[in-house]
Amino acid sequence: MKKVLFAGSFDPITCGHLDLINRASQLCETIVVGVVENKSKVPYFTVEERMNMIREATAHLDNVEIDCFSGLLADYVNANGIQAVVRGLRATTDFEYEIQMAQMNDRLYNDGIETIFLMTTPGQSFISSSMIKEVFLLGGTVEGLVPDNVLQYMKEKREQKGGK
Ligand code: PNS
Repeated sequence: MKKVLFAGSFDPITCGHLDLINRASQLCETIVVGVVENKSKVPYFTVEERMNMIREATAHLDNVEIDCFSGLLADYVNANGIQAVVRGLRATTDFEYEIQMAQMNDRLYNDGIETIFLMTTPGQSFISSSMIKEVFLLGGTVEGLVPDNVLQYMKEKREQKGGK
């Protein structure tokens, strides 16, 4: 495949995301990591911070592009020459949400565009950005679950926000 999209909130990017990016990058010429701006959710990190964290964490890969968008994922896909959208599956609970989204997107994609699922590496299937933030903000350790640069951003952000 020439160009695939791996999109998400990435608030922040985790080792689970990074594993999927590493693996998907082997399957295509270019992988676009797209940070989706959801205007109805207040994120912990700004879009710029999330893009910077991803850029640093994927610096070892030479076929990764970082972008951001808001609105329909399918509109971005159709307008940017994307051939497939890669999603990670952690558990059966993910599947229910993911199949619904993939089938809706399928109606919206231009012809020939696919959603492709990669199974999460077993040791990482419990990782989610929201659980990482919760554990971290309550004082638990999240070392090894997020890339090292992300842990640094999290510490700085917690300090900026007075521990919150
Ligand atoms: O990392 P996430 O939060 O699981 O990613 C979900 C995301 C951002 C990919 C999904 O919510 C999305 O595609 N949002 C863009 C808006 C959209 O296209 N909604 C209709 C999906 S069928």
